[in-house]
Amino acid sequence: MIRFDNLHKRFGDRVVLDGFTLEVPTGGTTVLIGASGAGKSVILKHVVGLIRPDAGHVEVDGQRVDTLERDDLVALRCSIGYVFQFAALFDSLTIAQNIRLGLERQGLDEAVITERLRESLDVVGLSDVDDRFPDELSGGMRKRVGIARAIALRPRYILWDEPTTGLDPVTSATMDDLMRRTTDVFGVTSVVVTHDMRSAFSIGSRIAMLADGRLRAVGTPEEMRNIDDPLVRRFIEGRAE
Ligand SMILES: Nc1ncnc2c1ncn2[C@@H]1O[C@H](COP(=O)(O)OP(=O)(O)OP(=O)(O)O)[C@@H](O)[C@H]1O
Ligand SMILES: [Mg+2]
Repeated sequence: MIRFDNLHKRFGDRVVLDGFTLEVPTGGTTVLIGASGAGKSVILKHVVGLIRPDAGHVEVDGQRVDTLERDDLVALRCSIGYVFQFAALFDSLTIAQNIRLGLERQGLDEAVITERLRESLDVVGLSDVDDRFPDELSGGMRKRVGIARAIALRPRYILWDEPTTGLDPVTSATMDDLMRRTTDVFGVTSVVVTHDMRSAFSIGSRIAMLADGRLRAVGTPEEMRNIDDPLVRRFIEGRAE
């Protein structure tokens, strides 16, 4: 379980998180929605200690992230896959090298590394790009490499930041399948940040909405569809004020 407990974060005089609280249960997919700039990526970065809270904290399986010693933080990061909003691949490394990096850091045997590399690229439907470089791939392909890299580590959690943004509708539906399969087959608990309501309702077992730095609403897709809160409705239905 991931627990966000009264998280506060400001940058300069801009308050981004103002008491954000949410429990992400183990298993299934929790989708986090909210306006651009609301602080969704900032929330994900707190989970792996890339950003430290001003007040409040995040717990992963009962462990407070902000007070972890360096070694424990490294171990935590190994158990959490992070699919960044912008693929964040190393441009000077091939696709295979990008994926191997984290596996080698885990000290796995060469045979296991090779197998994980194959399997993860197969899962995302990119079995023949090993020796290409990131800038030789399309944006959608780079996103899928980012996913392969996360899956290869066999994490307990995967944090997906905007996995379908900027993709055409067909690729985006494929991405939904991929996330669903990852969650089901590998038993991963997923947290997905997205603007894409079609995707949110298709993959979410729960949907949470962030507004004004706090949790505005959370529920099953069914509950969120029938919610009274006008701000949430407007957001879900994509209506301007
Ligand atoms: N490291 C940082 N330093 C300063 N400001 C930051 C930093 N990271 C995020 N911010 C600011 O925090 C706010 C929230 O950013 P965040 O990236 O979490 O938004 P978001 O909800 O993910 O938006 P989008 O949907 O556009 O990706 C923004 O105003 C952003 O400029
Ligand atoms: Mg973001």
